[in-house]
Amino acid sequence: MPKTKEYEKTGVISLEEPESVQAEMHRLIRTRLEYASIDSELKIINITSSTANEAKTTTACNLAVVLANKLSRVLLIDLDLRNPSCHRAFKVKNELGITDMLVDYAHNGDELDKNKYLNQFKHPNIVNELYLLTAGTQVINTTEIIGSNKMKDLLKLLKQYFDMIIIDSAPSGVVVDGIITSTLSDGTIFVLESNRTKIDVAQKAVNQLRNFKINLLGVVLTKTKYKARNYNGYSYYYYYRDKKASNTSKSLGKDK
Ligand SMILES: Nc1ncnc2c1ncn2[C@@H]1O[C@H](COP(=O)(O)OP(=O)(O)O)[C@@H](O)[C@H]1O
Ligand SMILES: [Mg+2]
Repeated sequence: MPKTKEYEKTGVISLEEPESVQAEMHRLIRTRLEYASIDSELKIINITSSTANEAKTTTACNLAVVLANKLSRVLLIDLDLRNPSCHRAFKVKNELGITDMLVDYAHNGDELDKNKYLNQFKHPNIVNELYLLTAGTQVINTTEIIGSNKMKDLLKLLKQYFDMIIIDSAPSGVVVDGIITSTLSDGTIFVLESNRTKIDVAQKAVNQLRNFKINLLGVVLTKTKYKARNYNGYSYYYYYRDKKASNTSKSLGKDK
């Protein structure tokens, strides 16, 4: 018998433990997205929050994995150019990424060789195709780069090749990068860290997103204590605005 290829363990729980409660919570988010996309095209989804460390990257990576088990081709883009970390979660190198692809696109337009930048991530627990586009070469002018017309065009081009694109972005409360990535997306998921994110800070970030007419799909509450008897430790809890009012969704206000 030939030796089976051994895969290095990643930091993405939905990949390593597809039966975990965390993986199940991300499948629930996937289901909500499916329902949300019945009437409107939701192909580019941005994940943001008000501050750092609220689990945006964790949510983006896990969501991309569970989506790739349902949709044919999914792309995860690391657009947190100030603090890129998707490559760390998947334990891949951050060599050529979106910043490099953008320069290439600016010179060569649609003729660029996309495969140079898109890394297919293969794993026994990924049924379909998951591609990673890491952040790439570090840049100083992150806001200008993310907000450039070329970035908008590049995303439009990439959209043609994937069923869904998940963007892991910067926080929206401290810098504008997370707001710009939201404007580039069809919908935004706002991450809130349980027992940490201050409600006024979150409210301010959400209001700012609304000022930019962002399609706010809902909120994912992270790092909550899961109370089910069979599970210990931390997990995710989520809700969407179309669910029955909860205290938190009320305090964030309702979209029209
Ligand atoms: N459900 C969770 N329970 C406990 N720790 C978590 C959970 N989700 C993420 N973390 C940890 O929180 C930290 C920040 O997560 P990360 O996804 O990098 O946040 P962000 O992208 O918002 O800065 C990381 O150390 C991560 O391992
Ligand atoms: Mg992050």
